[in-house]
Amino acid sequence: MSARKILVTAALPYANGPLHLGHMVEYVLADVFVRSLRMAGREVVFACADDTHGAPIEIAASRAGIKPEELIARFSDEHKKDFSDFLISFDVFHTTHSPENKTYADFFYNTFKKKGLIYERLVEQTYCEKDKRYLPDRFVRGICPKCKAADQYGDQCEKCNSTYKPIDLIEPACSICGSPPVRRTSLHDFFRLSSFSGELKEWIMGNERLQPEIRNFVMNWINSGLEDWDITRDGPYFGFQVSGKPNKYYYVWLDAPIGYISATEKYMQQFHKTAEEYWKQSGAQIIHFIGKDIIYFHLLFWPAMLIGVGYNLPYDIVVHGFLTVNGEKMSKSRGNFFTAREYLNSFDPEMLRFYYASNLSKTSSDVNLDFKDFQRKINSELVSNIANFIYRTLSFVNNNFDSKLGRLPKSNEDKILAARMQSMFDKVMESYRNYNLREAVKQLLEISSLGNKYLQDNEPWKLIRKDKSACHEKLSLAANMVRNLSILLYPVMPDYCIKIQKQLALQNLAFSDLGFNFENHKINKARIIYTNIEEVPSIAAEVFPARLKVAAITSVDDHPNADKLYVLKVDLGDETRTLVAGLRAFYPKESLAGRKVIVVTNLKPAKLRGVESQGMLLTADKQGKPMLLAAPKSSPGDGVAAEGMDSSERQIGLDAFHALGLSVEGKRVYYKDKILSTKHGSIVVDADDGAGIK
Ligand code: MSP
Ligand code: ZN
Repeated sequence: MSARKILVTAALPYANGPLHLGHMVEYVLADVFVRSLRMAGREVVFACADDTHGAPIEIAASRAGIKPEELIARFSDEHKKDFSDFLISFDVFHTTHSPENKTYADFFYNTFKKKGLIYERLVEQTYCEKDKRYLPDRFVRGICPKCKAADQYGDQCEKCNSTYKPIDLIEPACSICGSPPVRRTSLHDFFRLSSFSGELKEWIMGNERLQPEIRNFVMNWINSGLEDWDITRDGPYFGFQVSGKPNKYYYVWLDAPIGYISATEKYMQQFHKTAEEYWKQSGAQIIHFIGKDIIYFHLLFWPAMLIGVGYNLPYDIVVHGFLTVNGEKMSKSRGNFFTAREYLNSFDPEMLRFYYASNLSKTSSDVNLDFKDFQRKINSELVSNIANFIYRTLSFVNNNFDSKLGRLPKSNEDKILAARMQSMFDKVMESYRNYNLREAVKQLLEISSLGNKYLQDNEPWKLIRKDKSACHEKLSLAANMVRNLSILLYPVMPDYCIKIQKQLALQNLAFSDLGFNFENHKINKARIIYTNIEEVPSIAAEVFPARLKVAAITSVDDHPNADKLYVLKVDLGDETRTLVAGLRAFYPKESLAGRKVIVVTNLKPAKLRGVESQGMLLTADKQGKPMLLAAPKSSPGDGVAAEGMDSSERQIGLDAFHALGLSVEGKRVYYKDKILSTKHGSIVVDADDGAGIK
């Protein structure tokens, strides 16, 4: 193993939202790795920052009526507190909205320019004339051009996964104001990514540390031809202005990874040195931890940028998978979305670190947090195995030997056990080095099981009456096992291990202190630190299959081919849709325009006499007349749900909708025994009890 100094980074979290349990996968993985390096005596800097730029942050701030600076400051404080409570030991946590980052971003840009790596090109973009801004892909919604699914983002369809440009959507709408965007051309700077194909290939092929599946992935991208990269954006934008180009900003993904360098710079300032110690001079290893959604940026754009300015390429990039909670992708509507803070309000941070560590290694497969499994693992492995062994041993020494450790036993059997454990210590350390946290925890549990078995086999509670000094030796050996565990488990559970070391009257132990030579020492009083988890959140599995929303009718037209039908446009708050409804015989146009109604938004779109209806307006029958459901106090876009249930996001057919059997009672609408309502009050309809909803 070389003794080069190491820089470890974790991806910079966006500063427009709270950290959630998915984020913590990465920060725990990286932190355990870093702490294991420190324990191995390596020189390591762990750097991170908030990723503060981009259109979403600018839009979020403008919606909240505050300055972007204020928004990112708020989240920066929150993030720092969350990280520190989860014991993530960054040496520096900076921000991309810093003078250091501006300096380096300009340095990259200007160097590219000098080397002819940047050229200008006109690009056609989506623009909202009402909001007077270019819209990022995620801020345009419309019908997928491939599969025709309604309400899809401007970059990718969530139903059929096809990717496209926002301007390819059918009936695209601005997510901010709902009006249809237009196309507009703008002059942008492009980075010649395509000219790096050869060098990137060489780097990927030559770097055997990278995960094989990731290398394949990236090689395929390169082989299918790289396109040059659009690195500027038009204002309004929150970011760094490109000097000499009014109203042009660096695209957030240009200055975000540069944030790794500026965070290093911030750290090095205290030593009056610069980030180049790590990034330019030879002799340092840079290791990035990232999630699988940002591979493209870190294995293509970023190395190309580094080559472009003559900086060091990453030594390794560890790509992890996504977190699922109880087997499903986290989402608010599924009820399985937890922020880091919500977790901390109910559980101990080290328990999650232990659980994640038990499931993580250097692979991009997804990680599942199953709360029942979490409870079982904590109770049976952490509490009953490790913590129990530690407490049994130390309290026995407290109670029977006046807290004193004596000599170690000299029998062959004891020496063999110690040697066996010693080789397991090596395995734990090696597993940490290979990012194989799961294997490290497995070995630790085996060591602790051997410790428990050692107590069981020697029965000190009996031995003490027969041969007190033999008993003392055995317990002293067991206390050595405790000491070793407190060293090896430290990267995963640092606070717990510090507490154990306090009980042992020790501190600041490192991997080099591992071994069996801890004798004649007085320890402190043992205390129970961890007890069983009694209860875990049960996640609402009950889901209301329909997605209903309040809508306002904005226009009413006769159907061109059917004299009983109207074609309506409705405003759903964040989008507009076209509906076909059989109301013409019952309602004059004027009585409908502006009216608030209830619409099923997750029905498969259906063509009615040649016009596509993107949803269904709900009515209840009253002696043959369709009575409109209403939500008096609600606004367009408000969700309608059955009490305490989450609405499904999946598309359903008309039959499935009718099978719900929604019906009227006391002018209210019921699903089974649950009343339908928005957050402002219940849905009402002027129909008789027992009327069905259509
Ligand atoms: N800001 C960019 C990264 C810029 S790095 C120069 C970003 N931010 S993020 O907040 O969306 O994600 C930060 C990290 O957390 C990423 O590595 C991402 O993959 C990871 N995760 C975000 N959600 C996750 C899960 N649900 N599960 C596992 N990791 C996840 O991307
Ligand atoms: Zn708009």
